[in-house]
Amino acid sequence: MICSAILALAFGIASVAGGPSIPRGRNCGTYIDDQTVATKEMAFKLHQVAPGTLSPSSASSPKLNVYWHVISKDDTLEGGNVPDSQIAAQISVLNSAYSSTGLSWVLANTTRTVNAEWFESAGPEASIQADMKAALRQGGPADFNVWTVGFQKGKAKGLLGYATFPSSYEAEPEDDGVVLLYSTVPEGTTPGYNKGHTLTHEAGHWAGLYHTFQGGCGPIGDGISDTKAEKIPSAGCPVGRKTCAGEGVDPINNFMDYSDDECLTEFTPGQIERIQSQMRTYRRVSFAGQTEGSARL
Ligand SMILES: *[C@@H]1O[C@H](CO)[C@@H](O)[C@H](O)[C@H]1NC(C)=O
Ligand SMILES: [Zn+2]
Repeated sequence: MICSAILALAFGIASVAGGPSIPRGRNCGTYIDDQTVATKEMAFKLHQVAPGTLSPSSASSPKLNVYWHVISKDDTLEGGNVPDSQIAAQISVLNSAYSSTGLSWVLANTTRTVNAEWFESAGPEASIQADMKAALRQGGPADFNVWTVGFQKGKAKGLLGYATFPSSYEAEPEDDGVVLLYSTVPEGTTPGYNKGHTLTHEAGHWAGLYHTFQGGCGPIGDGISDTKAEKIPSAGCPVGRKTCAGEGVDPINNFMDYSDDECLTEFTPGQIERIQSQMRTYRRVSFAGQTEGSARL
């Protein structure tokens, strides 16, 4: 399922890059076609868990455990051996970016694995990513697993990261989490993308958000009413860009667009509502101010 969605990645990028000189921007591998979005949204509408209705015994805290898996080629930083200090800085960036969402992130464990094949070639379409995830994933639906790799060979070459959606957890729990380019963390070496917002963006998918350019200028788009529709991903920091008719400019400062890290600053209220709703429905996370059980008094 997520695999068939990801197989369509090539089409998504090709149609985006098909125009004369559209810059590519951040290269996220979390691709989902509009048909799959429509199917998922229908199911979400049917199964959506309302605030305050999770059973207290099965609910998880919005203070999320982060299980960080450093995959490296060797013991060097260039080989992917990200130091604890950069991981800590990345968790701080996540906490700032998500401060208005009700979610927070706490590093629960870091594992370190030297495996050159995983480091170089793991990717959404590579079968070895399943081995890597199966060997290392920890926790349940509300636990955030991150694998840092190099995306140096094969079809995933040049990716910044990719994520699974909350709605995929039930069918494929072992696949759940984010695979991230190791050099996108704060103080990393990837130009334009080294302030930590690649993980902010991928965590947004993991928490239930689509790209702001999902569905282009069409009526459904990313399913969020306060993110303006956008025909194509942003790149760099194109302030004032406008690619669809109607009021307002493209949401290039939104964490779910493709701008450079320094240009990404916000989630909208509509996205925050969706994060909470998706996290509640598919990851059994209960948020403050929505006391579970009170609805039944
Ligand atoms: C971290 O995970 C490893 C591998 O599962 C485990 O051996 C270790 O005990 C864990 N450490 C902590 C602090 O939980
Ligand atoms: Zn993305």
